[in-house]
Order: sequence, then structure tokens, then C-alpha cells
Amino acid sequence: MKTPIRVAVTGAAGQIGYSLLFRIASGAMFGPDQPVILQLIEAPIEKALKALEGVAMELDDCAFPLLKGVVQTSDPAVGFKDANWCLLVGAKPRGPGMERADLLKDNGTIFIGQGRLIDAVAAADARVAVVGNPANTNCMIAASQAKRLTPDRFTAMVRLDQNRAQTQLAKKAGVDLTTVKDIFIYGNHSPSMFPAFAHATIGGRPATDVITDHAWLQGPFCETVGKRGGAIIAARGLSSAASAANALVDHVRSLVTPGTIHSVAVKSDGRYGFDANVWAGMPVRTTTPGSYEVITGYAMDDFAKSKIAATNKELVDERAFVAEMIK
Ligand code: NAD
Ligand code: LMR
Repeated sequence: MKTPIRVAVTGAAGQIGYSLLFRIASGAMFGPDQPVILQLIEAPIEKALKALEGVAMELDDCAFPLLKGVVQTSDPAVGFKDANWCLLVGAKPRGPGMERADLLKDNGTIFIGQGRLIDAVAAADARVAVVGNPANTNCMIAASQAKRLTPDRFTAMVRLDQNRAQTQLAKKAGVDLTTVKDIFIYGNHSPSMFPAFAHATIGGRPATDVITDHAWLQGPFCETVGKRGGAIIAARGLSSAASAANALVDHVRSLVTPGTIHSVAVKSDGRYGFDANVWAGMPVRTTTPGSYEVITGYAMDDFAKSKIAATNKELVDERAFVAEMIK
């Protein structure tokens, strides 16, 4: 039997948590032979902690063979202690009519504290995946507080956007979505993101040969993917949850599976023309479990360059907005 992995999850009693925890405990995230201990962190609010008790009861009631323990806490120092993976989901979600920038200051303070604590108490091999919005900048904020853990340990999720883009391309082409490959997300998890369709393939052919309506690719496709989160909020009155949890399972599973190529928001270090200090979506190849290298070989045409410049500007602006906080 392998040693259990400790997985800290913030916002564990929230919507995403309710779809996520059962997938982790069932083995979907770390594999069918990898035991896990869930360290569930909620805000110190009576209602949230009561709800967390209920979620923990349901986890017990599933009798998952891989689940070797559940910690419930409102103290992040307890929740992040010795954690191998820290999944930062807890944050105030966007409501109808709000843009992600509205959340920056409220959620930024949360990620400062969490970044410091993770750096202080998590396991030596700790990895962090940020979902709480605005995810890229929250990730940058958390990483900015770390002295022990290097920036590559901090990733933010753009996998939901990749999954959304894959499905939209498949629907337009009228093909099974498994035939759509190499669609990667660049930049911010926001409407400015760029799903780089020119590098995608469908059934082994360039997507731009299969989908000859290039105006659709440049316009409605990019817009649908970029604004999908808002469309779901408008329809449900709540932000996406099951699909976000599923994307986080994919994000981490791909990061622990060597050879996988997938979209992750990482510290750009100037790649693809992004400001060096922002966290931007780009394709990575997982090297060893938890580690990755950025794939830098994709050439960008003028359209792609202008989209990347726009999403980079938004990330730079977000960084400037919280500059005082991260000093
Ligand atoms: P939710 O409101 O249902 O749950 C959030 C939970 O976080 C709540 O239970 C709340 O009590 C808790 N929380 C708040 N502050 C906390 C703190 N400091 N420590 C621990 N827990 C805390 O929200 P949700 O629908 O689960 O969404 C969570 C976040 O994920 C939101 O920011 C949302 O915008 C974001 N999101 C991101 C993506 C993505 O693709 N990156 C997709 C969907 C949602
Ligand atoms: C999403 O993309 O569904 C989430 O980030 C929710 C949001 O605020 O758009």
C-alpha cells in the first residue's frame, strides 16, 4: 500500500467542493491505487463549518477504500500542515453582473495569508493549484508570499477553458470530441483568454482546415469560450461547479501523469510575450509527477499575438491593482 497523499482543500463545503471531494476520494485525481487524506478547510463561519460536517459525514458514508482520513478545520495552519497538494478553491464567487476584477481585493487578502501558511507548514514537495477567482492573480499573490516553495509549485487552473474549447470545436466540426487535440489556453482565466485554435488538430488535420469558417474561430468561438463562465452564471444564478471540479481533477491528474501536454497557468517568465511576473495560461508537458516544462515552440500569427497582448495587459493591470498588497 502506498503512503497516503495529504490533500488540503479550501472552500471544502462550497459548491465546487461538493463535486470535487468525492472524485478525489474515489481515486479519480491521484489514481486507483493512491490512498488520500483529505484536509478540509472552511471559513470560520458557523453555517459553513456545519455544512462541512455534513460533507464529511457523506464522505464516511461512501466507504471509499482509498480515503484514509478526513480533517475538518477552520484553521488553515492545521489544514495545510504537511499537505502534498493544496487546492485553493475557497473564495467569494462572482455573482450576476460582476466581473472577476471586482473580486480582486476581497479575495487577494485570503491568498496572501494562505500563500504564507502553505510556505510555512506544507510538505517539502507541496504543489498548489488555485481555482478561486481571479485565479491567475490569486495564484501570483500566493506565490509572492513564498520563500521556501519556488514559483513553479504554484499553478492556476485554465483547464475548464481548455475543456470548453475542445467541446466547442468538436460541436462545430460535427465530430467526437476525442478527435480534437492540442487546443491550449493562453493568458487569463477571464473573457480575455485566448484559445489558440491555429495549433489544434481535428482527426489529425489542422483545425483551421476542418473548420473553414475562420471568422467563426476568431469571433464566436473565442467569445463563447471566454464568456462561458458568465453564461453559466446567467443561466444557473450560480457559477459553474461540477464542470469546475471536473477540470480540477483533470488539472491535477495531468500534472501527476508524466508526458501529458495540457494548459496550465504558470509564472510566465516572459514566454509567449507575457510579462515575466504574471501567471498566464500556456501549454506544459508534465515531466515527473508534479513537475512540468513549458512548451515554447508554438509560433503565433498576428491575430494570436494581438489576443495574447490583450490578455497580458489584463494580467498586468490586475497585478498593478494588488501591487500594494503583495509588497
Ligand atoms: P461557493 O461560494 O459555493 O464556495 C466557496 C466556499 O469557500 C464557501 O463555502 C466559503 O465559506 C469558503 N471560503 C471563503 N473564504 C474562505 C477562506 N478564507 N478559507 C476557506 N474557505 C473559504 O463557491 P464555489 O462555487 O465553490 O466557487 C469557488 C471559487 O471558484 C470562486 O472564486 C469561483 O469564482 C471560482 N471558480 C473558478 C473556476 C475556474 O475555472 N478557475 C471555475 C468555477 C469557479
Ligand atoms: C467559470 O469560468 O465558470 C468560473 O470562473 C466562474 C466565473 O466567474 O466565470
